[in-house]
Amino acid sequence: MKTITRTEEMHEAVLEEKSHGRSVGFVPTMGFLHEGHLSLVRESVRRADVTVVSIYVNPTQFGPKEDFKQYPRDIHRDTELLKAEGVDYLFLPDNKEIYPEGYKTYVEVHDLQDKLCGRSRPGHFRGVCTVALKLFNTVNPDMAFFGQKDAQQTIILKRMVQDLNLGVKIEVVPIVREEDGLALSSRNTYLNQKERSTALVLSASLEEARMMVKNGERDSGQIVDRMKEMIGREPLAKIDYVEIVDMENLDPVQKIENEAMAALAVFVGEVRLIDNTILQVKE
Ligand code: PAJ
Repeated sequence: MKTITRTEEMHEAVLEEKSHGRSVGFVPTMGFLHEGHLSLVRESVRRADVTVVSIYVNPTQFGPKEDFKQYPRDIHRDTELLKAEGVDYLFLPDNKEIYPEGYKTYVEVHDLQDKLCGRSRPGHFRGVCTVALKLFNTVNPDMAFFGQKDAQQTIILKRMVQDLNLGVKIEVVPIVREEDGLALSSRNTYLNQKERSTALVLSASLEEARMMVKNGERDSGQIVDRMKEMIGREPLAKIDYVEIVDMENLDPVQKIENEAMAALAVFVGEVRLIDNTILQVKE
C-alpha cells in the first residue's frame, strides 16, 4: 500500500492506474477505522481493480461546538488495518492540502441538507459535499463506497453527483452492527459503560418499528410515538429527532406504502448517535 499526502500525486497515481485499464474504487473516511469502514473497503477491493482509501478529519463538516478537536485518531493502527485488506493507496492529506490559504468554494445541496441531521448540524452537509467533491476530483474513482449508517449523506451525495454530472457511481453498503445491535461508529468510543447500554435503545426502537410494520401498522405517527416512548424511558437519552421519511426526498411520510426509512438521532449523555432502518411493506 502506498501512502500519498499530496493531491497532485494522488491524481497522477490514479491516472497511471487507469491508463492500464484498471477500475478504481474509493472509500472516503475520517479514520479510526472499525468493521463498518472495513466492510466498505472489502466491497471496493472485491469490485474494483484498484482501491483508494482516504483518511481526513474534515473540519468544515463539524460545527463550532462539535468534536473536531477530540475526534479519535489512530493513523498507525488504521494504516495496518488497510494494508491487511489489500488496499492499494491511502490518501492522507492535511488541512493545508484540502483548504489552502484563500480557499473560498463550497458545495451545497439545497433542501436535502436542511432535513434530519441538517437541522441540528447546520453547515454539516455543506462541509461533507465540499470535501467529497474535492476528493472525487482528486481520486477520479469509478465507484465510491458509502455506508447506509449515514443514510442522509448517501442521498445528498447521490444528488450532488447527478446534479453536477460527476462520473462516479455511489455504492451504498449495509450498516455493520455489534452483536447486540449497536451500529458501529467511531463516536462509540466516547461512551462509558452506562451510556453504552443506553445506546442500545436506538437499534431496539428501530427493531420495534420494523416489528410494528410487520404486524400491519402503516401509520407513521403511531410508530414514531412508540419509538419516542421507548427512548424516553432511558434517563441518559435525549432525542434529537425520530422520523419516518421518504427514501428519496427525506420528507416525512404519514402512511407507509411500499418502503420508508425510520431514522433517528439521539444524544446519549453528550454523545450524539444516529441510526436508521428501512421499513418495508411486503405484500
Ligand atoms: P466516517 O464517519 O469516517 O465514515 C466513513 C464511511 O464509513 C461512511 O460512508 C459511513 O457511512 C461508513 N460507516 C460508518 N459506520 C458504519 C457502519 N456501522 N456500517 C457501515 N458503514 C459505516 O462519513 C464520513 O466519515 C465523512 O462524512 C466523509 C464521507 C469521509 C466526508 O468527510
